[in-house]
Amino acid sequence: MTDWISRWESNRIGWHAEQVNRHLVQYYDRFDLSAEGTIFVPLCGKSNDMRFLLEKDLKVIGVEMSNIAIEQFFSENHLDYIVSDVDKFTLYEGARIKLYCGDFFDLKVKHLENVRAIYDRASLIALNEDLRQKYAKHLSDIIEFDARILLLTLFYPQHQKSGPPFAVSKEEVGQLFNGSFDIQELHCIEDIENEPMFQNLGVDFVEKAVYLLQKVRM
Ligand SMILES: C[S@@+](CC[C@H](N)C(=O)[O-])C[C@H]1O[C@@H](n2cnc3c(N)ncnc32)[C@H](O)[C@@H]1O
Repeated sequence: MTDWISRWESNRIGWHAEQVNRHLVQYYDRFDLSAEGTIFVPLCGKSNDMRFLLEKDLKVIGVEMSNIAIEQFFSENHLDYIVSDVDKFTLYEGARIKLYCGDFFDLKVKHLENVRAIYDRASLIALNEDLRQKYAKHLSDIIEFDARILLLTLFYPQHQKSGPPFAVSKEEVGQLFNGSFDIQELHCIEDIENEPMFQNLGVDFVEKAVYLLQKVRM
């Protein structure tokens, strides 16, 4: 936990992308959200994908442990906000966006009012194996039935590089969300040629996958 805080303090945020994620652009329609629908972005950092979602007229709820990330998101996007204390969180609230500063595992159903969709890019794969299990269980517990998750993962030979980002296989996605979710793989390609950091470490391949999960009643 403190490692993430120190990364933000020293600006070691190599995962942060200036461009909107192309898979989000490609598969955004699969959320099946009407305008003004609410989407949850767990472990949101200062992701520019949230700006894309706001531009689609959606409401965004995020959670992020670093106040630096949240304050940079608002300042870099020239958005006004107010700050308040809500339960264990500091809440940063702007027009159609609420970012909870605190621990994802402290979020409760009441913080995710009207959430119908979840966007996970570099969130599940930011966590080690134990935390991934805890994350999938907690996420499942706090979202409503029928909610859809767009989940982006990476898979590579884990022994050739330590995480984060961690390698998460299709089998693991199945195990993590098994029982509570309908799971559909939308996309999976080998893409080492666009991953110079992995190439430099001698990693043999990097598979990028996109899944659409839907919480179902069992
Ligand atoms: C790899 S970054 C990804 C950020 C964002 N999803 C993106 O695509 O840019 C992971 C983020 O999760 C945050 N984080 C890690 N564990 C967390 C937790 N338990 N609760 C809230 N935020 C957390 C870190 O501070 C970091 O900003």
